[in-house]
Amino acid sequence: MKVSVIGGGTMGNGIAQVFAQNGNDVNLIDIKQEYLDRAMATIEKNLGRMVKKERMTAEEAKATLGRMNAVVGLENAADSDLVIEAVFENFEVKKEIFTKLDEVCGPDTILASNTSSISLTKIAGTTKRADKVIGMHFMNPVPIMKLVEVICGQATSDETLEKVTQWSKDLHKVPVTVQDYPGFISNRVLMPMINEAIYCLMEGVADKDAIDTVMKLGMAHPMGPLQLADFIGLDICLDIMEVLYDGFGDSKYRPCPLLRRMVDAGYLGRKSGKGFYDY
Ligand SMILES: NC(=O)c1ccc[n+]([C@@H]2O[C@H](COP(=O)([O-])OP(=O)(O)OC[C@H]3O[C@@H](n4cnc5c(N)ncnc54)[C@H](O)[C@@H]3O)[C@@H](O)[C@H]2O)c1
Repeated sequence: MKVSVIGGGTMGNGIAQVFAQNGNDVNLIDIKQEYLDRAMATIEKNLGRMVKKERMTAEEAKATLGRMNAVVGLENAADSDLVIEAVFENFEVKKEIFTKLDEVCGPDTILASNTSSISLTKIAGTTKRADKVIGMHFMNPVPIMKLVEVICGQATSDETLEKVTQWSKDLHKVPVTVQDYPGFISNRVLMPMINEAIYCLMEGVADKDAIDTVMKLGMAHPMGPLQLADFIGLDICLDIMEVLYDGFGDSKYRPCPLLRRMVDAGYLGRKSGKGFYDY
């Protein structure tokens, strides 16, 4: 089938890679050729690593790249069976893209978003095909993580859900259907845990190493919550807590003041060189 991925950043290049790896023709679309060149270089490097580890042959890697087309311009998505948007987590940016995709794409094209926190119902409302709009929430790094959280907006049809579920399975992923409520399942369960770990640190219940050790050795989590927060980015964690807090209006989702203070200080985790840990 023919797939277009909008946005060649962290998530978009991984999503494009797994679709191409599994035999689909893929357009990778971004706003500048240099972003696309960077995305294609990342994909080539990832495929090269897989060949080295004997997870795929050099011929398969070459064929995967041969199925990919990196282009500027949303109109290139026109004849796709599925379009997956993976641009910045900003409703206005996504609105512009979905409005344009709705205009240029054929009537049967399914439009998916990889959003981690924006309402799918709201995104679908920017189009005239809300029944064909759905969430496909891949996890980072996409080629490795098995889960696809499939999110149904208020008007998503059963037919759209069935197709997207099957396509996710065709990628050797495990799709899980979730309804459109703030944070879906992944972030609604994960972020309050991280937020609570930050409260524990702020209140002096234990130091950061102790908190992470309890969750790693006691709960068999591969990473402690503070280490994970640094990995995700503290600004992203704060944004998602705000989405939960606003969306439910329930004080149990209030962002920890220490999280806010870290973000205000520019301590965003791994990407800024400093978060709960130094990098
Ligand atoms: N990074 C993660 O761990 C993660 C995990 C799950 C979901 N998500 C979600 O995936 C989406 C993308 O996140 P990311 O981390 O890959 O972002 P990113 O910043 O790495 O990449 C975004 C890309 O979108 C491109 N872009 C912006 N506007 C565009 C437009 N109008 N047309 C085409 N391309 C455009 C940018 O040039 C950039 O290459 C977000 O909605 C995010 O919430 C991210």
